[in-house]
Amino acid sequence: MAGSRLVHLFLLILFFPSLRAAPNTTAVVSRIAFGSCANQSAPQPVWEAIVGFDPQVFIWLGDNVYGDNKRPFRVFGRERTVGPWRNVPRFYPATEEELRRKYELAKANPGYAKLRERARVIGTWDDHDYGVNDAGKEYSGKVLSQRLLLDFLDEDEDSPRRKQAGVYASYMFGPEGKRVKVIMLDTRYHRDPLLSDGTILGDPQWQWLERELRGPQSEMTIIGSSIQVVSNLSATTRPLFYVESWARFPREREQLFRLIDSKKWGLIY
Ligand SMILES: *[C@@H]1O[C@H](CO)[C@@H](O)[C@H](O)[C@H]1NC(C)=O
Ligand SMILES: *[C@@H]1O[C@H](CO)[C@@H](O)[C@H](O)[C@H]1NC(C)=O
Ligand SMILES: *[C@@H]1O[C@H](CO)[C@@H](O)[C@H](O)[C@H]1NC(C)=O
Repeated sequence: MAGSRLVHLFLLILFFPSLRAAPNTTAVVSRIAFGSCANQSAPQPVWEAIVGFDPQVFIWLGDNVYGDNKRPFRVFGRERTVGPWRNVPRFYPATEEELRRKYELAKANPGYAKLRERARVIGTWDDHDYGVNDAGKEYSGKVLSQRLLLDFLDEDEDSPRRKQAGVYASYMFGPEGKRVKVIMLDTRYHRDPLLSDGTILGDPQWQWLERELRGPQSEMTIIGSSIQVVSNLSATTRPLFYVESWARFPREREQLFRLIDSKKWGLIY
């Protein structure tokens, strides 16, 4: 995703008979909030609004922190970061210590701390918490990044999610008849280079996703992707500005739509 976005978070309200409850997988889940692109160094007053909405589940959709570092925009001089004469990359990864500190800072935010006490917090990542702007499978620090994200999300030490390649995960909430399944994709760990029309998810994650969509039935399914699925904004803004999206991998985008089409029960994004 683009590096310079402001903190912005969205709320999604699901229409279900409401039942107030602490995080409890068998209680009806009727209020889910989700958010992304949270700059840990900037004020985040948005948490007050989210806590006010009183979600039972909060979903991080990526750029949960801005982990990577950005050099200033420079066309001239010794450290040129843009244009054909550019000699250093604009973005570079954080060290382990730096990334850990950024997550600690994010977690220490009083508004977010309040949310964590009241809601179940789950999530996936995007490029800036994965490692570096627009990065894919080539990023060498991904194993370390995975550990730090899962620490941030309080994943159990012996969770299988700590052993798999990538942070994709699924959750089922609610009692029979009102089940909500949340599937979160990892669009980074296995992603081929942009313009390759290769893979975004990689084979193991595709097989897992097919199983998840066939698997135990839910009345509602939410699939979370850190990059846009439907929009093809790049088509209108290029060559000046590219937005990362599924549209840049048309083959896999088709595959995703076909898979969703073939599914028998309710689904939303
Ligand atoms: C979870 O919610 C269900 C249904 O509301 C309730 O019967 C059950 O006791 C709750 N469990 C816990 C651990 O709170
Ligand atoms: C995050 O916020 C800090 C402080 O306002 C700012 O200096 C920095 O550029 C921001 N980072 C991003 C990626 O927007
Ligand atoms: C999106 O736009 C680009 C550039 O025009 C094009 O190459 C690509 O095939 C488009 N993707 C889809 C899914 O239409």
